[in-house]
Amino acid sequence: MQNEKKVYLGSDHGGFELKNALAARLREAGFVTEDLGCYSAESCDYPDFAAAVGRAVAAREGALGLLVCGTGIGMSIAANKIPGVRAALCGDVFSAKMTRRHNDANVLCLGARVVGPGLAAEIADAFFSSSFEGDRHARRVEKIAELEKR
Ligand code: RB5
Repeated sequence: MQNEKKVYLGSDHGGFELKNALAARLREAGFVTEDLGCYSAESCDYPDFAAAVGRAVAAREGALGLLVCGTGIGMSIAANKIPGVRAALCGDVFSAKMTRRHNDANVLCLGARVVGPGLAAEIADAFFSSSFEGDRHARRVEKIAELEKR
């Protein structure tokens, strides 16, 4: 179904547990989740999963992503290399809301060693329940897309 609310999930070992907890929460909220790895707490490389989620989000209109590693920083740096991805590392609820509204962020990055599970859940709720406002922000997001062409 193209109009389902799809969220692609990814983590490394540092984010594995939090990703699973948030996946269940997202499904309870009505999202269809697809986990693109990792699938255990064994040590692995976060760019592999940032790439998988970033490519999936960029390929599917309206899709969103969630990437979790220890700090969220590596995931956000890597995911933002994929054209069409606007990955936002959030450590607070306000930023999570505003990056959807103003930046049309399509991937939320979280640091499992930075935020506790309760705050992470509230950040995810804020991100995935907020929508892009368009208007003047659309012009600015278009300018971000232009940067990919240079
Ligand atoms: C893995 O130890 C750690 O470097 C990774 O989870 C993440 O924090 C990188 O940004």
